[in-house]
Amino acid sequence: MLEIEDLSVLYGRGGGTGPPAVDGFSLSVGKGEIVSLVGESGSGKTTVIRSVIGALPRSASISSGRILLNGQDVSGYSRSQWRRLRGTDLSMIFQDSGVMLNPIRTVGAQFVQYIRLHSDSTGSEAWDRAVSMLKHMRLSDPDNVMRSYPFELSGGMKQRVGISMAMTFNPDLLLADEPTSALDVTTQAQIVGQMMEMRERYGTTIVMVTHNIGVAAYMSDRMVVMKDGRIEEQGTREDILCRPRSGYTRELLEAVPEIGGARFA
Ligand SMILES: Nc1ncnc2c1ncn2[C@@H]1O[C@H](COP(=O)(O)OP(=O)(O)OP(=O)(O)O)[C@@H](O)[C@H]1O
Ligand SMILES: [Mg+2]
Repeated sequence: MLEIEDLSVLYGRGGGTGPPAVDGFSLSVGKGEIVSLVGESGSGKTTVIRSVIGALPRSASISSGRILLNGQDVSGYSRSQWRRLRGTDLSMIFQDSGVMLNPIRTVGAQFVQYIRLHSDSTGSEAWDRAVSMLKHMRLSDPDNVMRSYPFELSGGMKQRVGISMAMTFNPDLLLADEPTSALDVTTQAQIVGQMMEMRERYGTTIVMVTHNIGVAAYMSDRMVVMKDGRIEEQGTREDILCRPRSGYTRELLEAVPEIGGARFA
């Protein structure tokens, strides 16, 4: 359902002078698959998934390649074309949903607005839908969450609000950039569980960036190891964890002592 073909991305006006942030990246993801991108800081993971959702910063440009969503080439989409796709066909969970929320408006006001932007519903229908999404994310007392301002909620609660929003319209494709990094281990495990449940229930395709090899190992069908904007190695979870071919992948795995079994969660 997602095909990335030979994608290269440059930062800086006029194409910049340095090496590309992403260089010849190709990846094919099938429906219902969970794929993780791992690799050191600056290796281009965020740039790849931002390209897929049409949310690169203005200073960035795609210098080569194509991105196909369900066979449709979206690489040249305009802002309004992207707006129509986002929320319903694909959506994104950010590392810190807290910063996505407006601090001076209640969660409920923002959630209702989001739902009404993407669907034809009344304020009270949207409210009920939001409450049921929050309930589904196991937020106790969702009505109270709706009436709260972001600063009144914990990091884990805000992240669940962000994930609830991203999941509202059962997007075919969910992109997640470090969705659990800001959370404690218990909350991380819950969020991971909820993402996997979403795949079970709706066949959602998930492409996730994570620093946490434990999370990647637990969740993914396939893993892509990135280094300096290029794919160092990709394969099934078992390939990468048990039979890594690249020395860099081995280093990455060795840096995580707790890996090597079903230790996570
Ligand atoms: N807004 C930007 N302007 C200029 N260069 C950028 C910008 N964002 C990223 N880059 C460059 O692109 C490269 C890849 O960055 P990217 O954020 O995709 O890496 P990453 O793998 O997500 O790293 P991290 O794990 O730290 O989030 C980096 O070398 C960085 O210097
Ligand atoms: Mg990043």
